[in-house]
Amino acid sequence: MRYPDLRGRVALVTGGSGGIGRETAKVLAGQGMRVAVNGRDPAAIEAAVKDVQEHAWDAGERACDAVIGVAADGTDFAAVEAMRAEVERRLGPVDVLAVFAGGGTGRPVPLDRLAEDDWHATLDANLTSTFLVLKSFLPGMRERRAGSIVTMASLAARLPTGASIAYTAAKAGVIALTRQLAHELGPLGVRVNCVSPSTIMTERLAGRMPAEFERRLLAEHPLGRLGTPLDVANVTAFLASDASSWLTGLTIDVAGGKWMP
Ligand SMILES: NC(=O)c1ccc[n+]([C@@H]2O[C@H](COP(=O)([O-])OP(=O)(O)OC[C@H]3O[C@@H](n4cnc5c(N)ncnc54)[C@H](OP(=O)(O)O)[C@@H]3O)[C@@H](O)[C@H]2O)c1
Repeated sequence: MRYPDLRGRVALVTGGSGGIGRETAKVLAGQGMRVAVNGRDPAAIEAAVKDVQEHAWDAGERACDAVIGVAADGTDFAAVEAMRAEVERRLGPVDVLAVFAGGGTGRPVPLDRLAEDDWHATLDANLTSTFLVLKSFLPGMRERRAGSIVTMASLAARLPTGASIAYTAAKAGVIALTRQLAHELGPLGVRVNCVSPSTIMTERLAGRMPAEFERRLLAEHPLGRLGTPLDVANVTAFLASDASSWLTGLTIDVAGGKWMP
């Protein structure tokens, strides 16, 4: 699917150095976007940038300038501000913000056995980091009266799963934040939507999932397969583009039919 309006625009994908974010960065670069790839580990960022450059719409010398890596921990506002300054200096103001960094931390345990530190770490990694990235980039989007934001939730926020209760609460917070922000920013022409995936077979998960567990998961998805990073990336490109110009405040469940609200 081609979205010509995206060509030449600037995207930042937080968590773009791995998994779903990396595939999303590839798809957006494939649409001709100038893309900044974020993560914390410089080696992972470097590898992702090379991969994304190879998938750029005009791969070649120009892609080297059009796809950049920016290291920053999304839970640290000063680092996020420095990242924004670097992206704006090297690529220009951000039109599309995919706030994808995060993930489950630790093994799920009953609430009364969850350590306070683990609760805070999970909330920080998923919800607070989303807030901090938005806090940094929103003033520019407000001023320009333009922008498309895509946040990242999880099926865990929609129905009880085996995920940690802190992760579930954090992702439910992302959905609520998305709706509230969309309401606030709609009159300015800035759209905010959310993707909420069920199990997505990233490289990290594929190596870890026991075969029996995978079979059980498959049976829970009417479409008969687990998700791929590309499933989420394609929905994100649609939400980023003007093809979805009358959609805001939505959470799209990229879930193979496991959740049908
Ligand atoms: N995979 C799934 O089944 C699934 C399902 C539902 C929702 N999700 C959500 O989708 C998002 C991506 O998940 P994934 O499975 O693709 O994970 P992943 O393969 O582990 O990739 C996570 C990415 O986020 C970056 N990251 C993590 N914490 C960060 C921080 N504090 N600051 C900056 N970057 C950070 C990682 O790089 P560094 O570690 O180098 O920082 C990496 O680039 C997460 O928000 C996750 O909760 C995933």
